[in-house]
Amino acid sequence: MGAYKPLDPRNQLKPSSKTPGCFLSKPVCASLVCGVLSLALLHLLCCSSPGTQQAVLSPLRQYINNTYSFVSSVPGNNGKSCNYSEGRWVWAPGHARRYNATECNVKERQDCIRNGRPDTKYLDWRWQPTGCPLPAFDARTFLSAVRGKHVAFIGDSMARNQAQSLICLLTAVFPYHLVYRDTGEHKHNFWRYAFPSHDVTVSYYWAPFLVRGKGKPEDDGIKENHVHLDVPGDRWAADVDTIDVAVLAAGHWLLNGAVYYNSSQVIGAHNAPPEYSNYTKIGYAWPLHMAYRKAVERLSSGGRPRTVVLATFSPSHFAGRPTDSPTACTKMEPYEEGEEELVWIFKEVRDIVCEEAELAKARVVAGEGGGGGATRIEVLDVTKLAWMRPDGHPSVYMNYHPFEHGVPERMYSDCLHFCLPGPVDTFNEILVQILKRRR
Ligand SMILES: *[C@@H]1O[C@H](CO)[C@@H](O)[C@H](O)[C@H]1NC(C)=O
Ligand SMILES: *[C@@H]1O[C@H](CO)[C@@H](O)[C@H](O)[C@H]1NC(C)=O
Ligand SMILES: *[C@@H]1O[C@H](CO)[C@@H](O)[C@H](O)[C@H]1NC(C)=O
Ligand SMILES: *[C@@H]1O[C@H](CO)[C@@H](O)[C@H](O)[C@H]1NC(C)=O
Ligand SMILES: *[C@@H]1O[C@H](CO)[C@@H](O)[C@H](O)[C@H]1NC(C)=O
Repeated sequence: MGAYKPLDPRNQLKPSSKTPGCFLSKPVCASLVCGVLSLALLHLLCCSSPGTQQAVLSPLRQYINNTYSFVSSVPGNNGKSCNYSEGRWVWAPGHARRYNATECNVKERQDCIRNGRPDTKYLDWRWQPTGCPLPAFDARTFLSAVRGKHVAFIGDSMARNQAQSLICLLTAVFPYHLVYRDTGEHKHNFWRYAFPSHDVTVSYYWAPFLVRGKGKPEDDGIKENHVHLDVPGDRWAADVDTIDVAVLAAGHWLLNGAVYYNSSQVIGAHNAPPEYSNYTKIGYAWPLHMAYRKAVERLSSGGRPRTVVLATFSPSHFAGRPTDSPTACTKMEPYEEGEEELVWIFKEVRDIVCEEAELAKARVVAGEGGGGGATRIEVLDVTKLAWMRPDGHPSVYMNYHPFEHGVPERMYSDCLHFCLPGPVDTFNEILVQILKRRR
């Protein structure tokens, strides 16, 4: 196995409250177990007929039809008092088999079925919130809830994951056209689709720090992040006067680190290259607060009535294992309740987002920002439901048919994003419920 690559926020572990023995041995045990699992997986791959993979999505169209007739026959649950944060994943065959990701142009690395992922049980679960129903995604309900509006996803690759899921869920059912897409390296990072039947547009703006990020965010060949906490992200801020609904998601890049600025002055650094070691160690928490605050502030100003949805942190499942290990994440079922406690740092990042939402609500009520109290702030709390789905990541199936030429010792695994279709579709099931509530 290769050298550890610090992509995983767990490299920032503070002393755990667990006993050291347990803490140290856990990842080791886990990768042993994973090794066995992945052999089983390989066996399945070599020895199952090609028809197995074709069969994956064949009931798809019929399923879409069934889902819609089912949903439209459910008497109006307006979801007003439902808290979707807590719940459990329940077995629901076919629930997430709703579209062919190749046809809606998702990032190839998250198109797990195209890439040959042989086990598809991860598509057979639905989120059951505690004490209330969560209807399956219904494209008509979504488009009706945002009729005439511009919905913008702003943030890191988890924001993109959710935005692409939404596009797939909508384009599988309604006519659309692509309004705009960047070319080259950023083709998945800046785009807009239109749904003329409801006069709706949906955009994605790459802004992994929400605020202005120079260096790596603009050019992947650069190693450093230079982040200006006093300036909103340039691309989305330029369009802000057209945005009616904004969904924000960030956090992973702030954990990874950056050099932070306020009006061109360096104010501190976190996990930055050695030449910045003489600057204040700023940590990730305060910059995260400031980044969300700046973004929400910009979105609450200008007088346009907007809905701003703060999505909470969607955790990764590397669990300290090397990202170039083929067995970094190979679980094939959701966690059961109590099986793995949410890693403290992920909980902390979630809580920061919730705190910023509360602060923003208070500011709106106080009438700050000139929005005249017209800004509606909502939280899309996905941390728990995402944490419970270690099986939903592309893992080695971020690569095209990874075992075509044998089993390499090293191979990158994606234990952060979700396969499309997959658990991230549930983020949008909840988003619909939030957006259709009365203001
Ligand atoms: C998905 O769509 C692509 C492109 O149309 C097609 O080649 C592929 O076979 C489809 N996959 C499944 C599982 O139906
Ligand atoms: C889905 O419903 C539409 C319209 O009711 C129908 O034309 C189509 O054949 C159905 N598809 C399947 C696979 O049942
Ligand atoms: C929903 O539940 C979560 C987790 O228990 C809690 O943190 C949050 O405050 C609740 N939200 C509301 C609006 O009650
Ligand atoms: C930047 O500096 C201004 C002026 O001193 C201050 O009001 C603001 O809070 C600072 N912002 C950040 C993110 O440090
Ligand atoms: C840190 O070091 C750099 C280059 O050596 C220097 O330009 C900068 O002023 C130093 N900053 C502080 C806060 O000492």
